[in-house]
Amino acid sequence: MSESVYVSECLSRAEKYAELLPQLYSLTADEPELVANLANVSAALKSVFGFFWVGFYFVKGEELVLGPFQGPVACTRFPVSKGVCGAAATRMETVLVPDVDAFPGHIACSSESRSEIVVPLVAAGATRLVLDVDSDLLDDFGPEDQQGLEAIIAMLGKIHFAG
Ligand code: SME
Repeated sequence: MSESVYVSECLSRAEKYAELLPQLYSLTADEPELVANLANVSAALKSVFGFFWVGFYFVKGEELVLGPFQGPVACTRFPVSKGVCGAAATRMETVLVPDVDAFPGHIACSSESRSEIVVPLVAAGATRLVLDVDSDLLDDFGPEDQQGLEAIIAMLGKIHFAG
């Protein structure tokens, strides 16, 4: 089992996701503890891409509750009906927000966050958790991030929520 990740800084973002995914699989596939794997995925994404904030919220009843993350202290819990995270959880699809100030109901855990992407993990017809990535740059996320982050969430879904 590899307990480190290495991705060259010279690559494009899409290439970085492609290099990172198999390394994340090696890091997480044999570990049954979900929180441990989410913690390492957060750390890997933060270190490879330098995003402002990377982390997970668990769906707990009608609320989203903070899980493992990397970055500044964040909102601990909020209703699943609120925010970009809530939109992704309830729509059961990725929500990409180029300008958080233009998203009605955006929850500003940090005033430095300018753009955001949230990917839900859906299993057996329900959203179990969301992966939230914030940037301090406007319009910082594109299709390569959506594809790369959705692949990571699909991998975590297979490891922890299959069957
Ligand atoms: N901005 C998110 C809240 C979580 S923080 O960004 C860490 C939202 O609107 O759901």
